[in-house]
Amino acid sequence: MNQRIKVFPNLDDLSKAAAEYFIMLAVKSIRKRGYFSVALSGGSTPKPLYNALGSPDQEGRLDWEKIHLFWGDERCVPPDHPNSNYRMVREEMLSKIMIPEENIHRVPAELEPRGAAYSYEETLRGFFKGQWPRFDLVLLGMGDDGHTASLFPHSAGLNEEHRWFIANDAPELDTWRLTLTKNAINAARHIAVIVAGDSKAEVLVDVLEGDYQPDVTPIQLIEPKNGQMVWFLDQAAAKKLSDPENF
Ligand code: 6PG
Repeated sequence: MNQRIKVFPNLDDLSKAAAEYFIMLAVKSIRKRGYFSVALSGGSTPKPLYNALGSPDQEGRLDWEKIHLFWGDERCVPPDHPNSNYRMVREEMLSKIMIPEENIHRVPAELEPRGAAYSYEETLRGFFKGQWPRFDLVLLGMGDDGHTASLFPHSAGLNEEHRWFIANDAPELDTWRLTLTKNAINAARHIAVIVAGDSKAEVLVDVLEGDYQPDVTPIQLIEPKNGQMVWFLDQAAAKKLSDPENF
């Protein structure tokens, strides 16, 4: 299993380490392929990471001209809605960096869900020249129910084998979400999962040490087919794991 776990005292230290990891991968990808493609996670955990990447301290360390930002999932709301993952990233990072607008590939989540998903899949096909999308990095969070991106427990999207980006039902939230599929995520060169807080400790044990039951804990579907996966955990989230450093 090509997965590693890194545990940090708190979210601040975790975010600093994840920022350095992002920068390292970006420099390596740009040097090797001339660009860096990353699918960003939504939710609240990655906010300090995005804030760190947008801070003046990092000035000059990232060549934003060659960095392409995508979203791993999005809520079905307009870009200025308080729940929008795009709005969160704009507030935490985009508003502080000089990145060409054409490098920001926003999900058109203001459209009807299925139309939005097809439209974004076309955006991905255009960028990856019709080849199966292979992001240099996919950033993910994990809900306390074991979901990731918008792949929710018992949702139809867990069984999608062919599409890259779909509208998926979120049964518990009684709404639709837009998300990369498991296969699109698993095709990435690098996957980084950022998990922090006591509320994630219980489910993290089930995910990493329990039975394989992806319909219940969908993040168990995530494993790079030909790449590396790193879990960035804080001590609160990792506290129930038996031996995290020797995963
Ligand atoms: C979203 C995310 C989602 C998130 C988890 C964890 O759109 O909300 O993509 O998958 O990563 O729900 O959210 P927190 O980081 O807020 O705990």
